[in-house]
Amino acid sequence: MKRLLFRLIATLYRWAYQRLYNEFAWSYDIVSWLVSLGQWDSWRRTALRYVQGERVLEVAFGTGELLPLLAVKAENAMGLEASAAMHRIVDGKLHRHHLRFPRVQGVVQRLPFADESIDAIVSTFPAGFILDPIAHREFARVLRPGGRVIVVDVQIKAQNPLMRAFYSVVFPPVKESGQQFAAAVEAGQLTRSRHLHGEGAVEVVVTLLEKPL
Ligand SMILES: C[S@@+](CC[C@H](N)C(=O)[O-])C[C@H]1O[C@@H](n2cnc3c(N)ncnc32)[C@H](O)[C@@H]1O
Repeated sequence: MKRLLFRLIATLYRWAYQRLYNEFAWSYDIVSWLVSLGQWDSWRRTALRYVQGERVLEVAFGTGELLPLLAVKAENAMGLEASAAMHRIVDGKLHRHHLRFPRVQGVVQRLPFADESIDAIVSTFPAGFILDPIAHREFARVLRPGGRVIVVDVQIKAQNPLMRAFYSVVFPPVKESGQQFAAAVEAGQLTRSRHLHGEGAVEVVVTLLEKPL
């Protein structure tokens, strides 16, 4: 019974996320600001500390807030995102700021890039694809030797029961995601390291997946 309930809740969350990434993409920046109590953007920017190389690909860029900042760090910043609604939002944002970036609508599991052509791949607050071995094989294929995947996520450290309850609703723990992530990383055969940033209720977790030279 408990297992069934967990499955039902997980399905509901997946359904809600899909709506947020598509029909309600217009509300994504507001929702992410609210659920992070205003910190989403600073959490996301942690990725910038780890970016290296000239050809940098942001996968699943959502509303594209990081793309202009990546372009400051890398000569050739590009983006890939599955949702057409997210692309429309980014079109508007970039147009308003007179900016242009190579962007493609597609899925992480089928990256339209040549083998060993990318120096760094950035993924902040990744969706379920980060647990998919196919995505990790694609990361490994397109990365140059010495290249890296930079994954940014958060872990909840709040002690206050109210804060814990709040964060467990907005960032629900995914059952066995640790094991699934480890298995997916194994498929790509990249070297994994974990870096923690910040103190307090929420810690930013940067996972680096590096391709040996
Ligand atoms: C939680 S949002 C993160 C957006 C952004 N990176 C950020 O930090 O706010 C996840 C994004 O992944 C996209 N997405 C989900 N599955 C994908 C896939 N298989 N390939 C590419 N993008 C995907 C969704 O459309 C959504 O924009």
